[in-house]
Amino acid sequence: MDRIRRLIDDIRDYGINNDVPIMSEDSIDTIVKIIKDNNVKSILEIGTAIAYSTICFASSGIDKITSIERDKVRFEIAKTNVSKSGLNNIELICDDALNVSIEDKYDMVIIDAAKSQNRRFLDKYKNNINDNGIIIIDNLDFHGYVGKGSEIKSRNLRQMVRKIEKFLEYLDNQDEFDVEYIEVGDRLGICKKKNI
Ligand SMILES: C[S@@+](CC[C@H](N)C(=O)[O-])C[C@H]1O[C@@H](n2cnc3c(N)ncnc32)[C@H](O)[C@@H]1O
Repeated sequence: MDRIRRLIDDIRDYGINNDVPIMSEDSIDTIVKIIKDNNVKSILEIGTAIAYSTICFASSGIDKITSIERDKVRFEIAKTNVSKSGLNNIELICDDALNVSIEDKYDMVIIDAAKSQNRRFLDKYKNNINDNGIIIIDNLDFHGYVGKGSEIKSRNLRQMVRKIEKFLEYLDNQDEFDVEYIEVGDRLGICKKKNI
């Protein structure tokens, strides 16, 4: 395990030094706690990047994690990192998650990809959740910009933030999931299917 811990530290340093966006350590710790508290055994992750979070979750006692990344360069780095980890419970898929067809059901789905597409990822992958499964969405505060959309000068950034704000409005008004927000990292949304 020390070897995996060292690998995880190296991947985190690489991500920070090469501008690869990765989850904050407190978000990882919070999700690992949710995994353990809920006896989560299988995870589908949208947004692998270089497999930093993937390896953290894969080494937390679960049976399997499937992770999807569309960027080929990052995917190759992720593959190398997974191979270095020696873990055999990780399946990596290189594709656009909006085009992939996955039949399996998972105890947890983690959405950490293009932030403007959260609604589309949720609509698509809610079908891959087991009963009592959990969907986690990262970066719902988007670096503190959410709620301040009208003050943002850059058109692209403003549009992206507006999409996250619209997504949050949708979460507030839907009745399929119970939603809880955890103020760690860049704010996590935790969605649990309501048992109706
Ligand atoms: C925030 S990073 C993921 C970080 C990773 N979960 C971690 O914490 O180590 C988001 C990744 O999602 C990928 N991505 C964005 N949209 C995607 C899509 N539609 N399908 C697959 N991957 C996507 C990006 O290329 C990027 O590498």
